[in-house]
Amino acid sequence: MQYTAPGRVNLLGEHTDYTGGLVLPMAIPFATTASISAADAGYRFTSTAFENTRDTYAGDDTPKANDWSDYPVGVLRELLALGLEVPPFSLNLDGDVPLGAGLSSSASIEVATTVALLHHSKASLSAQEMALLCQRAENRYVGSPCGIMDQFVVTAAIEGHALLLNTRDLSFEHLPMNSGALAECSVVVANSMVKHSIANGDYGTRRNELEVGQAAICQAYPQVRDLGDASMEQLEACRSAIPAESYLRCKHVITENARVREAAESMKRGDAAALGDAMNRSHASQRDDFQDSVAEIDFLAATAVTLYGCYGSRLTGGGFGGCTVNLVLTTAAESFQRDLASAYRKRYQIDAEIYRCTPSDGAVARLERNA
Ligand code: GLA
Repeated sequence: MQYTAPGRVNLLGEHTDYTGGLVLPMAIPFATTASISAADAGYRFTSTAFENTRDTYAGDDTPKANDWSDYPVGVLRELLALGLEVPPFSLNLDGDVPLGAGLSSSASIEVATTVALLHHSKASLSAQEMALLCQRAENRYVGSPCGIMDQFVVTAAIEGHALLLNTRDLSFEHLPMNSGALAECSVVVANSMVKHSIANGDYGTRRNELEVGQAAICQAYPQVRDLGDASMEQLEACRSAIPAESYLRCKHVITENARVREAAESMKRGDAAALGDAMNRSHASQRDDFQDSVAEIDFLAATAVTLYGCYGSRLTGGGFGGCTVNLVLTTAAESFQRDLASAYRKRYQIDAEIYRCTPSDGAVARLERNA
């Protein structure tokens, strides 16, 4: 049996998903497929993209392999921790989500594995439980301190829609991406080919800096639960009590939450220009305040907005490389792709991969469609 989970691109709301904030991602047509068959004994993981086979009983003392197989093994461990009886299996992962590009190849592997193992074990979990289980697998076993955005959208997205998610209480809304002027637009993802990994230190450092600022605000204002509640006035009042980096990280997150609210309204009105403007301001905030961009990405974003038909461009995902996401008039998408790639090649001698992405189904909707 085969089970599929997509990658995702985040339209807006970056680094807001581990301090109770808002995010606005969508699933993309790239996906991971988990093919599972019953086995006589043990648990075996293979991957079409990598040569090594991982055989494991997934006990408490299972050491990490520090490769792709830690993601599905982490998921298996979390399912076993729930008390699920998982019969022996052989599971192969295959897919086309670009690796290390900030398009959630990890979450897509985790969610495809979860769906496959649940079906193999004749068990079920709600979409929310699946997403949280995958996040635990990544936090506890893989050791990446990620938030909940990726696993949630990869599980719960539906075709034609972006997903507005409140990461504090996990309430969400599917926002159609075809109203008004948005119907004339495409989401174009430009891969800088500069590798990004959230398992390395930069993501964790930013997260710590942010949490220092959040703790100071929550202490000064007991009614504030997390940065999702905090205002710029409250941050300014705490400014002298926190390091300069923490101030900048919090400034990004507080203003980013406001931009997501604004962007969700623009999306409902079908106002592509307003959505694009929020994306551009988000990029400036990441570049200057959160400081998770790199020169190649800044070049892609700055060049994109000079090209005909582009409403907005920004760094998407964990940062420090990866991709930009662009909102572009569909009739201009082809020339946009060509001109952006050519400017990038001229400046960096790198061939960017540029993809037009339609908002796609998450793993649950895929399963229901195939049922
Ligand atoms: C990575 C993480 C997410 C989120 C983004 C930044 O993709 O997995 O949880 O924090 O970075 O918005």
